[in-house]
Amino acid sequence: MVLRGNVGTGKNHLACAVARQVSEQEGFSSLLLTVAEIIQRIRATWDRQSTETEAEIIERFAGVDLLILDEVGRQYGTEAERITLFQVIDARYRAMRPTMVISNLLPREITEYLGDAAYDRLRENGGRLVNFDWFSHRAYKEETSDYPA
Ligand SMILES: Nc1ncnc2c1ncn2[C@@H]1O[C@H](COP(=O)(O)OP(=O)(O)OP(=O)(O)O)[C@@H](O)[C@H]1O
Ligand SMILES: [Mg+2]
Repeated sequence: MVLRGNVGTGKNHLACAVARQVSEQEGFSSLLLTVAEIIQRIRATWDRQSTETEAEIIERFAGVDLLILDEVGRQYGTEAERITLFQVIDARYRAMRPTMVISNLLPREITEYLGDAAYDRLRENGGRLVNFDWFSHRAYKEETSDYPA
């Protein structure tokens, strides 16, 4: 599932609720991470001092019942990032586990960012794209807020 749309529209709000529902069920796990955190964790294994390998980290990401990738498109979108994200999404796809993606980008930009093959895997078996096309909740949450819109 892809949750995409404007800033402050409640994508994380909803994704957190979903993750909590999954984790509260006996024997099920969920994880919500930004793409930056995923890339950083994988890069950390390239250090000679690292006790974990890249493959082990990818296996760990593939092993949780629900993985939510947040801030997709916020990074540079380098080829190395695309390869890493493909490895994670594909490992989960092969394990037949669902992956949720959160992004501010347009669908076509998400495809470009993740690459066709990764995006296509998200669509299988009734994959859904939800458009959060309303205003930011942050603006009217704080009644005292005097930030201009
Ligand atoms: N339906 C809602 N009910 C109550 N609070 C909400 C609702 N939707 C969003 N919020 C609140 O509005 C704020 C912004 O929501 P959230 O962080 O989920 O937005 P987002 O879509 O992930 O934004 P961004 O794209 O900037 O990351 C949070 O404080 C969140 O708790
Ligand atoms: Mg968010």
